[in-house]
Amino acid sequence: MPTALAPPPASPSAAEPAAGEAALRLRNLRKSYGDLTAVADVSLEVAPGEIFGLLGPNGAGKSTTMMIACGVLPADGGTVELSGEILSPDRRDLRRRLGVVPQDLAIYPELTARQNLRFFGRLYGLGGTELNDRVADALERTGLTNRADDRAEHYSGGMKRRLNFGCALLHRPSVLILDEPTVGVDPQSRAHLLSSVKDVAAEGAAVVYASHYMEEVEEICDRVAVIDAGRVLAAGTIPDLLAPLESVLRLHVTPPPGDPDGATLLPPAFAGLFDVVAQPSGVLTYALPRSRLNRDTTLSGVLAPVLEHVKGAGGRLDAVHTDEPDLERLFLKLTGNTLRD
Ligand SMILES: Nc1ncnc2c1ncn2[C@@H]1O[C@H](COP(=O)(O)OP(=O)(O)O)[C@@H](O)[C@H]1O
Ligand SMILES: [Mg+2]
Repeated sequence: MPTALAPPPASPSAAEPAAGEAALRLRNLRKSYGDLTAVADVSLEVAPGEIFGLLGPNGAGKSTTMMIACGVLPADGGTVELSGEILSPDRRDLRRRLGVVPQDLAIYPELTARQNLRFFGRLYGLGGTELNDRVADALERTGLTNRADDRAEHYSGGMKRRLNFGCALLHRPSVLILDEPTVGVDPQSRAHLLSSVKDVAAEGAAVVYASHYMEEVEEICDRVAVIDAGRVLAAGTIPDLLAPLESVLRLHVTPPPGDPDGATLLPPAFAGLFDVVAQPSGVLTYALPRSRLNRDTTLSGVLAPVLEHVKGAGGRLDAVHTDEPDLERLFLKLTGNTLRD
């Protein structure tokens, strides 16, 4: 009698955290506004202590996904789980584990930072010395202690964003959802916010972080999902996502007056290696993707004769640089160059 084979161990999909129970798990979320599908199918998991980046062009469905994840917006389909428990409108206990910083500021301009924080703290059921301690901690974390008793309407954009962030932290959420929290802030406030987000994750919270700023996501996120048209196009650690992209060496050459197309500039043996792009300025860019090099055709074996030939043919080498794979290139590759509103 054949013995039953044990199923193979499930290979972790890139949309899942490395190990352990997910603090937040979104399964097949869907949401439409009339005929418009804002979220077509989004699934992802975030582990405790992990910062998960959501990247996507305007209108991709990031905010809708996040508002569903924090229980503010009902989904048409799919589930939100917090440590394995399904979030539903009657689970106020689960809602309390969530902290959210919405895309638009949600603070009272006529109240001071301390009053705003006390207000949000009370909403979460805090009071007494605990509330006092949490408010003092939030002021400290957001760098607002010195301005705690000034009205928020007199704050700079960065201070307002920091206060908005502090209001979401008061009840020590285990899942923190941040929707573009650094829009319109100065570099100091941005650095402060990013470092506070890292602190909160280091203390064990699972963080979902939507941003337009690739360098922010590169700096703080453990894993990233690129979403567009309400779907996850790619998800994983940044090195895994960038692995299929290659670095490209680019030579910028001014061709000689008699040869604007640069037909004479490359030695015939190497001509096929390079992609030639004419810039509007007349400068030619010769691009050499790394994958075209091999043991017989090395970079040094190509560069020296090419540079010599360019010079001999009357061309001028203006610049050499290497484009390394980065999130921006991945983002444009996945979502295209079409402008979004
Ligand atoms: N309340 C709403 N009513 C109608 N359409 C909406 C509403 N909120 C968002 N949308 C639309 O849903 C799509 C996704 O929006 P959103 O989730 O805000 O994307 P993102 O945050 O990635 O920019 C967009 O086309 C947007 O115009
Ligand atoms: Mg948004």
